[in-house]
Amino acid sequence: MVTVFDHPLITHKLTIMRTKETGHKDFRENLDEIASLMAYEVCRDLPMKDVHIETPMGPCDTKELDTEIILVPILRAGMGLVNGIMDLIPTAKVGFIGLYRDEKTLEPVEYFAKFPKELPDGIVLVLDPMLATGGSAIAAVDMVKKRGAKNIKMVCLVGAPEGVKAFTEKHPDVDLYLAALDDHLNDIGYIVPGLGDAGDRIYGTK
Ligand code: PRP
Ligand code: URA
Repeated sequence: MVTVFDHPLITHKLTIMRTKETGHKDFRENLDEIASLMAYEVCRDLPMKDVHIETPMGPCDTKELDTEIILVPILRAGMGLVNGIMDLIPTAKVGFIGLYRDEKTLEPVEYFAKFPKELPDGIVLVLDPMLATGGSAIAAVDMVKKRGAKNIKMVCLVGAPEGVKAFTEKHPDVDLYLAALDDHLNDIGYIVPGLGDAGDRIYGTK
């Protein structure tokens, strides 16, 4: 399933991020806010369990979350989505995948991996703002599947049609969430219109 969020608040904040004059402080703040808004919807179908509690007024049969949530940002730019989601899910655990795109081949190169032990049983949200060729997202999901993850969702900000096609063909069992689906990739693998290099814009590098 591919979900493209069509929400005025998300689109407005993304417009600020896309604008080339936006500096890294405003870029990061808007990314935090979009991540929280997206998390609210991404978590709509989380499993719940029945619990019995006491309120100040008496007994109450209600529900609570029945799963660990594990955020797995793809370094570096995926880190930009962590704080906004953690604001809504403060008990989430965090694993890390270090990948960068080789600038010539556009192939992802792995340089780091570390995961909480609950990875196989929890709901795993793999995070990366950009889904361009899809190579990094495909490799990241391969990595968590290889370690036993079964319930995986891929959360991105901006996707290219090429990346969506590649990702959904390779991982048809993984729900994909996007704030926007853009027009195309250019000849150096950047999303157009996109927002430029997400990592550089978040961290003020280059
Ligand atoms: C960017 C982005 C994705 C990847 C997307 O990372 O954050 O991880 O490119 O491209 P793809 O879909 O074609 O794989 P980059 O390699 O620039 O690393 P960075 O996050 O460290 O800047
Ligand atoms: N990575 C980015 O940061 N931006 C793009 O447009 C494509 C890949």
